[in-house]
Amino acid sequence: MTVKIAVLVSGRGSNLQAIMDSIEKGYIKNATINVVISNKANAYALERARNHGIDAVFLDPGKYDRDEYDRAILNVLNQYETDLLLLAGYFRLLGNKIIKAYRNRIMNIHPSLLPAFKGLHAQKQAFEYGVKVAGCTVHFVDEGLDSGPIILQKCVPVLTGDTEEILTARILEQEHVIYPEAVRLFTEGKLKIEGRNVVTGI
Ligand code: GRF
Repeated sequence: MTVKIAVLVSGRGSNLQAIMDSIEKGYIKNATINVVISNKANAYALERARNHGIDAVFLDPGKYDRDEYDRAILNVLNQYETDLLLLAGYFRLLGNKIIKAYRNRIMNIHPSLLPAFKGLHAQKQAFEYGVKVAGCTVHFVDEGLDSGPIILQKCVPVLTGDTEEILTARILEQEHVIYPEAVRLFTEGKLKIEGRNVVTGI
């Protein structure tokens, strides 16, 4: 069975790119990205999707109230018979209706070792806190902020002479490794959620 994926984006789309490439190279099998949805008209991620022949949809938040906006997203997800929803640099809170409809089938990538440094500018938060180890997390999405069960994490060192930008780039490189890996595990049926623990059959 092919897992039908939808991706929500707001900007650059480098994580989307890593996942599209992993599907094309056959690292992720039995999966297709059917649609990419953005809340920003000019998100470069939309162009990346089109370059790969994937439908790219801009849903204008200015045209709907909160509830209607969630319904508009749900409509697109249903239309494309979505099995798995990926948030990849989607800078907007996802409504509870969507979370409920896709419980345990929504993933997000966050640029910190959760539960440290939730929310925006996680790399800046980590850098300014002075941690010696930073990293990234792929997790399932629940109703809280960056709080769902953790699927995979990867750490990177913070080195003498680093700037926030250098650290951010070091983390991003690992995001592009663990996000495709988490999607592969899902599509191979190797993720089992037991309470807060995600057991990975690797
Ligand atoms: C990444 O750092 C991701 O962890 C965070 O937003 C950024 C998105 O980058 N959620 P991109 O759009 O995938 O290039």
